[in-house]
Amino acid sequence: MCGIVGYSGKRPAAPALLAALARLEYRGYDSAGIATVFGGDLHIKKGIGKLEQVEENCSLSHLPGNSGIGHVRWATHGGVTTGNAHPHCDCEHYIAVAHNGIIDNFEALKRRLSKTHTFVSQTDTEVIAHLVEEYLEPGAPLEQAVGRAVKDLKGTYALVVASPVEPGKLVACRQGSPLVLGIGKGETYVASDFQAFLDSTRQVVFIEDGEMVVLTHNLFHIYGRDGKRLRRPPVMLDNSLVKAEKEGYDYFMLKEIMEQPDAILATLRQDKQTLQKAAGLISRSRNVVFTACGTSRHAALIGRYLFSSVAHRLSDVIIASEFGYFGEAVNEETVVIAVSQSGETADVLEGVREAKNRGAKVLSIINTVGSSLARVSDRVLYLGCGPEISVAATKSFISQLVIFYLLAFTLAGRLEEATGELARLAAEIKENLAANNYAVPEVADLLSGKDKFYYIARGINYAVAGEAALKLKEVAYVHAESMPAGELKHGTLALIEEGTPVVAITPCDVTREHMLANVAEVKARGAFVIGVSDLPNNLFDAFVEVPQVAEVYYPLVSIIPLQLFAFYSAIARGLDPDRPRNLAKSVTVK
Ligand code: F6R
Repeated sequence: MCGIVGYSGKRPAAPALLAALARLEYRGYDSAGIATVFGGDLHIKKGIGKLEQVEENCSLSHLPGNSGIGHVRWATHGGVTTGNAHPHCDCEHYIAVAHNGIIDNFEALKRRLSKTHTFVSQTDTEVIAHLVEEYLEPGAPLEQAVGRAVKDLKGTYALVVASPVEPGKLVACRQGSPLVLGIGKGETYVASDFQAFLDSTRQVVFIEDGEMVVLTHNLFHIYGRDGKRLRRPPVMLDNSLVKAEKEGYDYFMLKEIMEQPDAILATLRQDKQTLQKAAGLISRSRNVVFTACGTSRHAALIGRYLFSSVAHRLSDVIIASEFGYFGEAVNEETVVIAVSQSGETADVLEGVREAKNRGAKVLSIINTVGSSLARVSDRVLYLGCGPEISVAATKSFISQLVIFYLLAFTLAGRLEEATGELARLAAEIKENLAANNYAVPEVADLLSGKDKFYYIARGINYAVAGEAALKLKEVAYVHAESMPAGELKHGTLALIEEGTPVVAITPCDVTREHMLANVAEVKARGAFVIGVSDLPNNLFDAFVEVPQVAEVYYPLVSIIPLQLFAFYSAIARGLDPDRPRNLAKSVTVK
C-alpha cells in the first residue's frame, strides 16, 4: 500500500514522476503528491483524490527541476487530507520524504522531536523528515543524516528522500517494504515496483531489507546494514513482465478477465524440473499448510481440495493474518505453501518468516518477480500471467488454480493428463469469452437495485462461491455472503425473502443433486435464483451457462462469468471497478 518513486535525470522530473505514479496507483489512490528540487529549493504539490484529479487540481507535472520524488497514498495514520498527503517535509522545507510502510514508534519519536520541531500532519511519515533534519550536518552528505534517521525507526518502510542540500541526489532505504532501482541512460529511478519505470528502462536492481541506496542521474551506490558499499549489477527484466496497458479496454479488470485463457497457457509453461522439485517438497513433508489472504486464499481452498481428491493428501488452509496463532504446530516436517499474487502481503510474509524460524520449508506461489516473498522462500513457482493492475484479482486467481492442478497431478504422477486438459480448456474459455457467451451484463442490470446477495455451492465449487462474493463486494459495494449450500438451513435461510438474489453454482458433478435440493429450499422462500451451470433447470430464474468439463475443472469455468457479473454490477452502479474505495492492491501493512 502506498507507492513511492524517485527520479534523477536530464529530463524534467515531474512528468516522469507523474507517469511512474500512474503505474503505481494500484498501491493507493486516496491522495498523491510530488516534490522536486530546483534553484536551491524544494517545490511541492499534493492533493486528495485519484492521481488524475490531483494533477487536474494542482498541475503536479508543471513542477520544475530534473530530480524529485512522488507518492500515491493509501491512508493508515491520519485521514485523507492534503496535509497528510506525501511528500512530507522538515520544518525548513528543505528535506522531502515519500514513504511506504508504518513507523511503529512514531508517537514516541514525535514526542521527542516536538520540543524543537513543528509537525503539520497526523502521519507517521513526518517524523522521518524531522529526524533527517535533526541529523543533517553542514557539509556532510545527505545519506549520513538519512542513515542515522532510519536507525531510530521501528516498523516497516521503503522511503526516498530529496533535498536541495544536494540537488540531483536521492537517498532511499528499505526495511520490510519493496524497493527497486531502475537504471536508464543518464537517468535513474527508485520505486516500490519496477512497473513504475518500465517504459523508460528494464535494467533493475532489487534492494534488500536494511540497505540504503544513493542515486544521482548517472550513478547508484548501495550500502548494507553495516554501512559497507555493496556491488550488485543490474538485471534485465524480460518482455513478459511488460504488459500494463489497457489495450483498448476501458478497465483493467475487464481486460484481465478476458486475458484469462492466455493466463492459463502462460502458467502452464512451467519448467518441469522446478515443478517436480516443488512437488518433492510436498511429498517429503508430513503436514501441508497453505497460507494466503483474500482471493489467493480462495485459490488455496481449491488447492486443498485438489490435493485431497487428485493426490490424496490432506492439507489445511490458514488465513495469513491468523497463521501466527497456529505457530506451535509448525515444525521441520511442515511445508507451508504461501500463495500471493504480489508477494508483498505483510500478513503472508510474517507467517512465512515465523514458519521458517520453526524449521518449516516454504514453497511460494507468486506472480510478481523479485518480490519479498520470493526472497524468503525455499522454492517458488511463478504464475507468469503478466502484471495484474486491477485491484480486484482475476487472472492471478485462474493462474493460481493452474499451479494447483499442476502440483496435484504431479503428486499423483498424472501431469500430462492435466496439461493437455488445461490447454484444451483455455481454448474453450477463449471461444466463450470471444462469443460473449455468458449472459451476465443483463442479469447484472436486472439486479442492480439489490443490496445483498448469497452465493452457494458445494465441494470444490464452494471456494468459487467465496471468490465470486468477494469480487461483488469489493467492486460493486454490495453485501455478499457465500456458504456451502448445505449450511444454509443452519441459520442463514432466515435471511432469504421474496426476491433475494441467490447465486447457485450447480454444475453436473457430484454436487448437483444436493445443490438442486438446496436451491429448491431457497426458491420456496422467494429467492431469485441465478443458476451457474452446464445444464438449465426450472428452478433457475436466470441461467448463466458454463461449459461441461470433468469434475475437478469446474472452478476454472464457473468463476469467469461470476467475475464478469461483479464487473458489470459495478458498471451498472456507476462505479470504477479498477479503483474500489478503501482498497489497494498490495497490502503491505498488517
Ligand atoms: C481481491 C484481492 C485481495 C488479494 C489479497 C491478497 O480481489 O485482490 O483479496 O487477493 O489482498 O493479495 P496477494 O495475493 O497479493 O497476497
